[in-house]
Amino acid sequence: MAPKSWSLLVAAFCLCHDGSTMKLPPPCDSYIYCTGELLHQVQMAKLFNDDKHFVDMKLKINPDVVLEAYRNLTATSPTRLTKEQLKLFVQTYFDSPGQEFEKWTPGDWGDHPRILHKISDQKLRLWATELHALWKSLGRKIKLDVQSHAELYSQIYVPKPLIVPGGRFREFYYWDSYWIIKGLLLSEMTETAKGMIENFLYLIQRFEFIPNGGRVYYERRSQPPFLVLMMDSYIKVTNDRAFLRQNIDLLDKEYDFWMKNRTVVIIAGGKTHLVNRYIVEAAGPRPESYSNDVDLAKTLTEAARRDLWLELKTGAESGWDFSSRWFIDSNGENNGTLKDTKTKYILPVDLNSVLCRNERILAMFHRELGNSLKAQYYEEALKSRIAAVRDIFWDETQGIWFDYNLMSNRSNTAFYASNLAPLWAECFTEQKPGQTAEMVIHYLEEQQLLWYSNGIPTSLVASGEQWDSPNAWPPLQQIIIEAWQSLARRQLGASHSSKHRNGSKQTGLCIRSTKPCLRNTM
Ligand SMILES: *[C@@H]1O[C@H](CO)[C@@H](O)[C@H](O)[C@H]1NC(C)=O
Ligand SMILES: *[C@@H]1O[C@H](CO)[C@@H](O)[C@H](O)[C@H]1NC(C)=O
Ligand SMILES: *[C@@H]1O[C@H](CO)[C@@H](O)[C@H](O)[C@H]1NC(C)=O
Ligand SMILES: *[C@@H]1O[C@H](CO)[C@@H](O)[C@H](O)[C@H]1NC(C)=O
Repeated sequence: MAPKSWSLLVAAFCLCHDGSTMKLPPPCDSYIYCTGELLHQVQMAKLFNDDKHFVDMKLKINPDVVLEAYRNLTATSPTRLTKEQLKLFVQTYFDSPGQEFEKWTPGDWGDHPRILHKISDQKLRLWATELHALWKSLGRKIKLDVQSHAELYSQIYVPKPLIVPGGRFREFYYWDSYWIIKGLLLSEMTETAKGMIENFLYLIQRFEFIPNGGRVYYERRSQPPFLVLMMDSYIKVTNDRAFLRQNIDLLDKEYDFWMKNRTVVIIAGGKTHLVNRYIVEAAGPRPESYSNDVDLAKTLTEAARRDLWLELKTGAESGWDFSSRWFIDSNGENNGTLKDTKTKYILPVDLNSVLCRNERILAMFHRELGNSLKAQYYEEALKSRIAAVRDIFWDETQGIWFDYNLMSNRSNTAFYASNLAPLWAECFTEQKPGQTAEMVIHYLEEQQLLWYSNGIPTSLVASGEQWDSPNAWPPLQQIIIEAWQSLARRQLGASHSSKHRNGSKQTGLCIRSTKPCLRNTM
């Protein structure tokens, strides 16, 4: 099929390299953690294996004094500081990472949540038991000192205990927390789940949006907007309407951020659509991956370097850091390497699907709370979203949704697991019930995607990046399984048949005791 081709409303969106990134602020205002000469020298000297180590360290004394000491030191040292000098300086003024927590174990943790008894497969039950036990080691409570002496920490204070991903990730992450909260709810830990939601609401009050994670260097970028879905999951389990009523305004506020600060106006099919994209308006390398970002941009012109750093932060905002999905080469093709990351020029299917779910849930919340005007507003937004998803992302010939490339003015037609997101979000209408699902199944079969033993791959490109083949990322599998469930609800799975394969390979969609299972329907 001929690629769709549309024009953009230039007023709302600028493809220019006009140095506009020059005016952007750093990732945060700290001259220790986000910008400045000290950060540059320490990170470029590679004092630690991982750049995240330095920006997670706690200051021993006030940052102004530390910066003065640094100026004194560089004033007496005619050339660059040596690695030894920097090491000594860091030892003198910084404590090692991980100092910002009190010991905490979740009070709502119990030995025997019902879910464990519902799993008949012994191996899986054992695995679930181990997962359930992990809550105790991944739970964290931030010390009050992080609130009263915020200037000494890169950790962002939040009032309630939380679950961290673990390893080098010593803070909460936004979209990870959606699946953490779903797990907590299965583990019957509703208080901990509620606390994490309260933390996000607190962050909206403070920042008007939710940062990527709990560090100041994430303060100007977000992550896929899952808070409304977290609230929905929590309310379904607890029926805690009072909590919803109390906080609905903050949910509206986050939605407004996405609609005001993360949108592009585009004309498609003669209609004007407002669609979402990721774009981080902050300059410089990512503080937590500083030397990598500097090295990657080494051979570029200054303007290209600034653009690349913005694109890398934007890629991080997408949660897919990094992926061939965001690569656009000089011909406008979805091809290249990490250096060709151009996230803000790609309209993502999955982001728009998540917002589709936001709109449906917010409409329902407002209906239930009796705010009929607000409910109507979100119902309209949902209608517009469904039209935009159809006009911009849906490919009628291939029977699937694709990201849209603003540089080539065409769809990117490679497979990414995110192509299935509208099915999960139920973000489509159809004339004949079952039509869409039928086409999507056909697409998956054509692409040979149903025969991997460990789930549907993130992409078919082995780029070496994390969000590419052969990785299959649990959030993507969960979204696909849920898409399948919604499809089965529409009673389609059973009507589909496929004679040409005799399931010797096992599809990732077949999970024991989870119905429906694709393999069984074939
Ligand atoms: C894409 O559309 C924009 C806006 O209409 C236009 O400026 C640009 O030249 C187009 N790019 C290509 C590669 O066609
Ligand atoms: C920096 O140098 C000035 C002048 O020698 C001195 O008064 C000040 O105490 C020094 N500051 C630090 C933090 O070492
Ligand atoms: C959103 O955009 C507005 C207008 O450009 C800006 O003033 C505001 O600071 C932005 N909000 C956030 C949270 O970045
Ligand atoms: C992608 O880039 C590689 C290396 O530059 C090139 O060999 C290949 O032909 C390109 N593929 C497409 C589809 O443009």
